[in-house]
Amino acid sequence: MNFSDRLLNWYDKNKRTLPWRNSQDPYKVWISEIILQQTRIDQGLVYYNRFLNAFPDVRHLAAASEDEVLRLWQGLGYYSRARNLHRAARDIVEMHNAEFPRCYQDWIRLKGIGPYTAAAIASIVFKEVVPALDGNAYRLLARVFALSYNKDSSKGKKQFLDVANQIIDTQRPGDFNQAMMDFGSLICKPALPLCPECPMNDICVAFQNDAVAGYPVKNPKRPVKIRHFNYFRITTYDQQGNTLLYIRKRKENDIWKNLYDLPLLETAREASPEELFKHPWWKSLIHCQNNYTIFRHPKQRIHKLTHQTIKAKIYYVSVDAEHTRTLNKMFFAVDFERFEQLAKPRLIELLNWNADNNE
Ligand code: ADE
Repeated sequence: MNFSDRLLNWYDKNKRTLPWRNSQDPYKVWISEIILQQTRIDQGLVYYNRFLNAFPDVRHLAAASEDEVLRLWQGLGYYSRARNLHRAARDIVEMHNAEFPRCYQDWIRLKGIGPYTAAAIASIVFKEVVPALDGNAYRLLARVFALSYNKDSSKGKKQFLDVANQIIDTQRPGDFNQAMMDFGSLICKPALPLCPECPMNDICVAFQNDAVAGYPVKNPKRPVKIRHFNYFRITTYDQQGNTLLYIRKRKENDIWKNLYDLPLLETAREASPEELFKHPWWKSLIHCQNNYTIFRHPKQRIHKLTHQTIKAKIYYVSVDAEHTRTLNKMFFAVDFERFEQLAKPRLIELLNWNADNNE
């Protein structure tokens, strides 16, 4: 039996039950594929159900505000996925009268849809014969066929696609693609693959050569950048005595674009409280040294992202209402419940922005 028959036999007996697998609805498959990029299935399922409840179809998604979409996404990270998803929903509704594309070439034109996602949707929903290679599929192919290039190199991309195009099942392309994903995550696992019980082990070139640990071939690692974030949780009081918090909407074109954030000073090294409160940025916000009270010294939090590690602290500062003129220009003041409802970088939650001051 060849690779494809073995794979589909295994899939028919062992496939995971996932809600979008019972559906040929492009909307559901699209949402699931975007959520599952860089997200574990169990966590992804929770968000998938929540998302479909809030936005049952593409018109609902297009009609939502970006803030609502980001808020539902909170905790998943990689927020550009949510922004692009929302943009694409609006394009589909406004330019295509809410009709979904029907083939790979049209899907890939949409915002946030790359070769993997376009191929996954086109094969699962429209039975187009195109390989969808995620990390699990790459690992499986790398081992069974002992592929010699890294998947991210241009030679590697071609090598993997050539092999996949030769072996994809032309009758069941969507099942074939999903079977590679399930097989890669349940059997051909990254660290401890289940080789003794693997139905491919007699045709797996890496296994036959006792070389499974050498595949997939790795890329030289990009160095991780270390950044120092100093957050300020600045509060004041309104005329009724309610506590207000200064926040802003991030405009920088980075992974946190359009999320709501606290005032932030990034420094090249770890900075002491003395250095921070003498910094020109801080002095420009609060002119007179006696107008604020720092009531909480921070512990450092380390937040690891793919290519950067952020060392972050949060300073709790209370400012007299008469001295908030500059703050009011640069930030806006909201009560805690409002900030609670807005989409924020995960780091803000990790820093316990909401803990009370005597904690
Ligand atoms: N990961 C992303 N999409 C998937 C799918 N359709 N099946 C299994 N795992 C996946």
